[in-house]
Order: sequence, then C-alpha cells, then structure tokens
Amino acid sequence: MGVGIQTMWSILLLFSCIFSAASASVSYDHKAIIINGQKRILISGSIHYPRSTPEMWPDLIQKAKDGGLDVIQTYVFWNGHEPSPGNYYFEDRYDLVKFIKLVQQAGLFVNLRIGPYVCAEWNFGGFPVWLKYVPGIAFRTDNEPFKAAMQKFTEKIVSMMKAEKLFQTQGGPIILSQIENEFGPVEWEIGAPGKAYTKWAAQMAVGLDTGVPWIMCKQEDAPDPVIDTCNGFYCENFKPNKDYKPKMWTEVWTGWYTEFGGAVPTRPAEDVAFSVARFIQSGGSFLNYYMYHGGTNFGRTAGGPFMATSYDYDAPLDEYGLPREPKWGHLRDLHKAIKSCESALVSVDPSVTKLGSNQEAHVFKSESDCAAFLANYDAKYSVKVSFGGGQYDLPPWSISILPDCKTEVYNTAKVGSQSSQVQMTPVHSGFPWQSFIEETTSSDETDTTTLDGLYEQINITRDTTDYLWYMTDITIGSDEAFLKNGKSPLLTIFSAGHALNVFINGQLSGTVYGSLENPKLSFSQNVNLRSGINKLALLSISVGLPNVGTHFETWNAGVLGPITLKGLNSGTWDMSGWKWTYKTGLKGEALGLHTVTGSSSVEWVEGPSMAEKQPLTWYKATFNAPPGDAPLSLDMGSMGKGQIWINGQSVGRHWPGYIARGSCGDCSYAGTYDDKKCRTHCGEPSQRWYHIPRSWLTPTGNLLVVFEEWGGDPSRISLVERGTALDAKKL
Ligand code: GAL
Repeated sequence: MGVGIQTMWSILLLFSCIFSAASASVSYDHKAIIINGQKRILISGSIHYPRSTPEMWPDLIQKAKDGGLDVIQTYVFWNGHEPSPGNYYFEDRYDLVKFIKLVQQAGLFVNLRIGPYVCAEWNFGGFPVWLKYVPGIAFRTDNEPFKAAMQKFTEKIVSMMKAEKLFQTQGGPIILSQIENEFGPVEWEIGAPGKAYTKWAAQMAVGLDTGVPWIMCKQEDAPDPVIDTCNGFYCENFKPNKDYKPKMWTEVWTGWYTEFGGAVPTRPAEDVAFSVARFIQSGGSFLNYYMYHGGTNFGRTAGGPFMATSYDYDAPLDEYGLPREPKWGHLRDLHKAIKSCESALVSVDPSVTKLGSNQEAHVFKSESDCAAFLANYDAKYSVKVSFGGGQYDLPPWSISILPDCKTEVYNTAKVGSQSSQVQMTPVHSGFPWQSFIEETTSSDETDTTTLDGLYEQINITRDTTDYLWYMTDITIGSDEAFLKNGKSPLLTIFSAGHALNVFINGQLSGTVYGSLENPKLSFSQNVNLRSGINKLALLSISVGLPNVGTHFETWNAGVLGPITLKGLNSGTWDMSGWKWTYKTGLKGEALGLHTVTGSSSVEWVEGPSMAEKQPLTWYKATFNAPPGDAPLSLDMGSMGKGQIWINGQSVGRHWPGYIARGSCGDCSYAGTYDDKKCRTHCGEPSQRWYHIPRSWLTPTGNLLVVFEEWGGDPSRISLVERGTALDAKKL
C-alpha cells in the first residue's frame, strides 16, 4: 500500500516536472523579458558570492528579497574556480551551485554573468594568472589559445548549471546569462580582431543552448539574439541595437569602489532612485544594482592595483550585510511603487508630454491600466505642476510615481525611510601580542635564483604571493671610501610597481608606492654605504593585479630599473644589468606563520622586548569570540600596510591609506550626466576597519596573525562590533 502511494506521488511529481519544464521559458520582446509567457519588470541586485561567506548568503538573499528584488546577479570568478589548469574548486565561498540554489529557495531569479572576463575590481579581472603563460596567448581578442580556454571554462560552467538543472527552462532560477563584459570599448580600440572576437563569443555562447537569453553589456554590436545592455550612473538614453530587444540596465552603480589612499565614494539614495525611475519611465524594464551587497575582497582577490579590501560600494546592504539606511528602505519603497505600475509598464510605450520648461509626464495608458511618472529635471528648483486635473509638488531632480495616474505614492527625492548611523563598538582590545621579525633575506639562502639583470615580478611569483625580493651586493672599494664631495651616494630605483621597501645592510632605507592611476614608482635617496660589501635587498610588493584596460595582461610589476648609484669617485654605476638574486615570498609565508599549524614553527617574542613599529614583523595573538552575532571587524587604524589572517583564513590586505585632504569632491549630484559619485572621508583612512566573518571564529582561542610591512602599533588594534542605529530625529 505504502509503495503504491509512493509510486503515485512519483508519477504525479514526474508529471508536474514535465509540465513545468514544458511551460518554463524565457524570451523577450521590445518591452521586456518574458518569463513563462509573462512580461516582467525585473529588479535585480549584484551579490558576488566570494565576497561574503556561505553563512552570510541566506540572510543577504533574504534582505535582497525584502528590499523588493526579483533577481540576484553575480559574476562567475574563473580564477577562484580554476586555480591551476584543469583543477577546479567549487567549495566554501566558491560554492556557486549552493549560492544559486539558495537564491532559488528564496524564490528569486538569477542573472549569471559568466564572463569569464569580469572586471569587477577583482584580481586580474577574474582571469587565472596561469592563463597569461599559455604560449601565444593574448586576452580578449581573436586569439586561438585564448578563445579555446574561454570556451572550455564557459562550457564547464554551463554544463555544471545544466547538470544541476539551474536554468529556468529546466525549472531552475537562471533567467539570463552574460558572455564577456563591457567589451565594446576595447573592440572600438582594437578594431577588426575585436569585431571577430565579439561575433565568436556570441556564437559560442548561443551554441551552448542554455534555453535562456544571453546578454552582452556595453556592446553596441551584440549579434542577435544576444541583447546589448547599459552600465552606468544613468541609462535613460540607452537604446538597444534592435527594436525587438528590451531596454536593460545591467549595472546601476549604487556607489563606487574604494582604492587604498583614495577618498571613499558614496552616492545619495535619492539620486540612485531618480536614475532608476527615469530609466523606467523611458521604457526600461530590467535593472540591476551594482552592487546591492558589495562585501569584502578577502585574501588577495582585490584587483587593481590598489583596490581596497573593503568592497562596500555604498551599496544598499553594507559590507557586513546590514541594511544601509535610508538607501535600502528608499529603494524598497521605489520598487513597490514601480511594481504597482507593472502591468501598465509592460503593455504600452509611454506618451510623453511637457509639464513645464524642464518637467515632463510619462504616461503608460493601456485599456485597463494607467500609470504616470512626473519628472522635474531642474537640479535646483521645486516646481508645482498640473497633471490630469491635479496639482503636484515636484522637488528638484525628482520623479513622482502615480500608479493610477492620480495618486502620488512615491517621489524619488522624498525619503520616507529613516537614515541610520554606523556604530563601531570596541569589544576587545589589548591583544596578548607576540612578534617575530622577518629578516631581510640574504642572497645565500635556499630557494633563491640568481640571474643577470632585472626581471618582471609576476613572471617569477606567478602571483602566489605579493612579495618578491631583489638582492645584490654593492662592493665599495677603498678608493671610493671618500665619496665625491664627502656626500653619501644617491641610490635611484625605478619600479613598475606597486610598492617597495628598500633595505641596506638590513636597515630599512625607505618605502615607496604607486597608485591606481600611476602604479609606477621611484625611490631616490642618499644612502650610507660602507667600504666593502653592502647588502642591498629590495622587497617589491604587488597590491592586486589590474582588472581593466586593453591587454592589461601585459602590464608589468616589479623592479624593472634602471637602478643607479651616483656620486662615487668612479662615476655613476648602472646596476640594472648586475647579478640579482631573487626570492619569492617571505620566510614567514613559507613557514606558514599565518596558519594554525605553522604559527608555532618559530620562536615568538613577547613582553617588553616585543617588536613594535618595526618593518617586516609578524604579530600573533589569540582571543575568544565575543558573544552574540553582531558582525565583527578589526580596527587597524594604528597599523601601516600588510595582511591579516584569522584561524588561517586570509582577511585581506590592510592599509589604512590616509586620504589626502583636497582629494574629496563635491557631493552635488544633480545637473549633468557625468560621474556623480561623492568623495568622502578626507583626512581619514580610506579603510580603517576589516571584516572578520563570524563563521571563521570558534568560541575560544582564535588565532589572529598580522604581517606588517612598514611598522605599526599593534597594541592599538581592537576588535569592534558593527551595528547601525536608526537616526533619532525621525524616530
Ligand atoms: C564596470 C564593470 C564592473 C565594475 C564596475 C566598476 O564597468 O563592468 O565589473 O568594474 O565597472 O565598479
């Protein structure tokens, strides 16, 4: 009997599967994406799965749903998934299938941007570093080795999604996929091979038969049936390349990324809402917030060079997953208002009428519905307008939404939700630190290679570490002992980037670094040399590989010279062609000092003789997890530059990077169409706090390890709880 009922259920289930599979479809027309026969206004948000922990995912997704989202968009991060050729990794933060299934369980759709080039302020734009060393390769052009690798990875992801039945046509949540990313501007630059590559990429993707549409963002010539889409702060003027394609906005920039030493960009909630309402009133039907949750560039995943560890992005959900108010609530209210107009929006094109010199009404009137958007484009003045027999007050730079063409339910400049203040409450300080000084390496060590001349850094390290030593001996003869004019000689070093510590005879002579705009750097200083042998040791430090720019794979890092010594009796010495000894990585890295098992492999110093404010120092301490589940963060404001680990997991690079006064910008967002982000926090660190995921901690005895490159004061590091408090004013 039991078996009978079970069989019946199985048959029913089978039927329902066949039925839903048969009815599941995603297509499009000029108005909208059509899911199972229904045209939809789709509100999407980017959450990049490796930028948070699997433990955070359900809550982030739920908060996205509560914020009125229909879709979660993510890139696929190739270098996280294929660390060496043919070795795939889909665990932990890279468990793509789990992430997509969680989105599905929450009842949301997925927009999967396979790329596999992703840009995204992610190390090397998502490409594995080994790809650069495939013979004959050139990235993102009509190049056979590149296309073969790109196809192989794209096929791998698509077949994985198919095997897990994750495409909508299989009953899964994926309704859209993306191939490439903003290739249009590169194609424009490189011409014919770029055009051929675009065609190839589109054909290759379409040939994979996912059953759901493909998109290409910023790609005006996206071949049919691929849809070209817009990215930007504003996109109302965008038109897809064919009348029968819907108007889609894949990146509504909710803020912007932070670079170390750069001002912290923000974008007002009102301006984000205004740009979205403006897009919808002009016929847009799909929009995606980039980012909805930015998260953290854990480990060495930050791109750049010089991208900060935080990827907060001023997004509606902050780095720690807490709603940022009023942005989160103001956009939720906007989504509700837009959704109440959905049937009108998807059935007709708007008719546009002037309400004043700088004011318009966009009316969507079908047989059964009427929805109106009343816009005031004036950046300074409020205006009272008459519409359909009513009077409406429109604040500057705002749009009112009238789902029945009469009642204003929302205005983009009238913020109904409360604002909140971030609170960072110290919960633990005075860690019981111990120190270990990383010696400046000497050329007699093992694991070194001696070569004639200067070599590019990533060629040698393959980006397995940020650190590469360049070492040589400077022998000063007795006849040089009295230096010209009695002055010490001038050592000049040119490096392709990104940061450099110069040691002479074990002493730090100086530290220099570049910036995102100009990663190159130079060191020029009079240095004390003794007669006889002087040990010159240069620690060249990479700070994230570039993620954008034509053929960014060819950009160099490391000390490429020239290196000169001037002011000796015998004239200027060019040291560039000398014998240089190379050592990849730090001793502490090789010993695994940052890991739970490796951390006890050296003698640590504690108490009064502990190193403080010393360059190249490892610090470790243990601590118990504070009770509760509030998100945690480390206050690293007292430190210089380096890296942080908790229980062997890499939190990322630390570098408070004080922001030069004067690099902050005007926050007025209205008026023109250029880059409207505000630049804030001048005079403060660009990143003081570093997210410690709760799930990385055990109740007691957590191992915190910090490697400091410059010299900092660890006694002032503290653990803080991140919280938000709603503004009292509006309570
Ligand atoms: C876009 C790109 C994204 C991201 C963004 C800036 O152009 O597609 O991946 O880099 O810029 O945050």
